[in-house]
Amino acid sequence: MRRAKISIIGAGNVGATCAHWAAGKELGDIVLVDIVEGLPQGKALDLFQASPVEDFDCRIIGTNGYEETAGSDVVVITSGLARKPGMSRDDLLAKNVQIVAEVTQKVVEVSPDAILVVVSNPLDAMVYVASKVSGLPPQRVMGQAGVLDVARYKSFIATEAGCSVEDVSALLMGGHGDDMVPLVRYTTISGIPVTQLIPAGRLDDIVQRARNGGAEIVGLLKTGSAYYAPAAATIAMVESIIRDKKRVLPCAVYCDKEYGVGGYFVGVPCILGAAGVERVIEVELDAREREMFNASVAHVKELCAQTEKLLSA
Ligand code: NAI
Ligand code: 2OP
Repeated sequence: MRRAKISIIGAGNVGATCAHWAAGKELGDIVLVDIVEGLPQGKALDLFQASPVEDFDCRIIGTNGYEETAGSDVVVITSGLARKPGMSRDDLLAKNVQIVAEVTQKVVEVSPDAILVVVSNPLDAMVYVASKVSGLPPQRVMGQAGVLDVARYKSFIATEAGCSVEDVSALLMGGHGDDMVPLVRYTTISGIPVTQLIPAGRLDDIVQRARNGGAEIVGLLKTGSAYYAPAAATIAMVESIIRDKKRVLPCAVYCDKEYGVGGYFVGVPCILGAAGVERVIEVELDAREREMFNASVAHVKELCAQTEKLLSA
């Protein structure tokens, strides 16, 4: 059987860690691409040399070009600037629009059948760029944010409840910004509503900490942003696509009539399989949840309007 081919653009912290998780799961052959000479080659060789120790059979190569990425099944885009203390994700917009537009064009020239998973920030705008530039059907373009944001939320819930992270089930929607919407009403611990186990005040603190999850890590690292959990979240999406697992995950996907979004990429629950986004799931939202979701979508739309100007400049 032919092995899947995964190309990862940007061999920095998130890109290289994506390669690490993907290799560990033997998801397929991996091509790491970066503009810095030697960086993707060195990281790919180093990771490949771990394979006899960890027993994974994957071809892993690094390159500064796109020829080697030809015929990829999935392409993960992580290239671009990362946040430093004091910066919001939106501060990265102007520079990352150029980078993501350029790499998307190069990727689709040689892998027209690929599924694109965008990670670069500001995430919701970068998926929009990848979709516009690639011209691919919307079900083959998506962004990673919700899997990370909900993982942060679930990890804090498990710590507070003193239970296993495995037993926390939760839903989070909206954009990858400070106005993301963790949904307490859809959070359970082994089916028990979380509101029966954690007092309301503590839950409010946890929601706020999840919203601030990226900034908390930037503040600690000082030189960049999170990468272990972001890469693990990205590879969970890639795995669901490559193994056609049909997991239900919150991802930044194209919504038109869904939730009345009107043609933007926003975080909603969806089924990911071999065809990409196989279904967007519409859950019921009460008035307060709907208001928070709409505010988050309004922010995404504003970012896309700025992006549109940058793309046509
Ligand atoms: P990093 O600085 O470690 O790596 C970025 C890499 O992109 C660098 O190696 C750089 O040389 C490369 N690059 C820049 N321009 C390029 C081009 N034109 N072609 C190929 N490679 C190019 O940054 P890190 O930490 O890996 O973050 C990458 C991006 O992912 C950032 O925009 C960051 O904000 C975003 N991010 C998104 C998350 C999410 O949940 N969506 C979570 C974490 C990070
Ligand atoms: C994060 O949430 C910076 O978007 C990145 O960690």
